[in-house]
Amino acid sequence: MFRVTRRYEFPASHRLHSAQLSDERNRQLYGKCNNPYGHGHNYVLEVSARGPLDASGRAVDTARLDDLVRQQVLGPFGHRNLNEDVKSFARVVPTSENLAVEICRRLKENWAAAFPGAWPRLETVRIAETARNIFEVKANEIR
Ligand code: NI
Repeated sequence: MFRVTRRYEFPASHRLHSAQLSDERNRQLYGKCNNPYGHGHNYVLEVSARGPLDASGRAVDTARLDDLVRQQVLGPFGHRNLNEDVKSFARVVPTSENLAVEICRRLKENWAAAFPGAWPRLETVRIAETARNIFEVKANEIR
């Protein structure tokens, strides 16, 4: 059994702000990440999948994975304002944790179409917002 991790990058901007909270509370909670006009990150996304070797000697068809990630993540999120351009962040604050969950959800929903067999299985989604802030979610722990 192998665990294969593929790394991608995409730039996007966001603002951490909850419409349910007062402006003051938002500033206390999110600090400079609450600045009105947002800020950008070069997000590094790592997608890990697990599986046995197939007849080609590979555990994951990375070209298929690339297609899936391009369609579900890099296209809709890359060079976007996450708050404004991604529907799921209209009400959910686009923290990197929520971003990882959203990416994982999209990959899970479309995984079977890209990989119709029993393997490989999506294992984790990891988002590095900066070199020091890294967020990882397990695919079997989210709905
Ligand atoms: Ni940020």
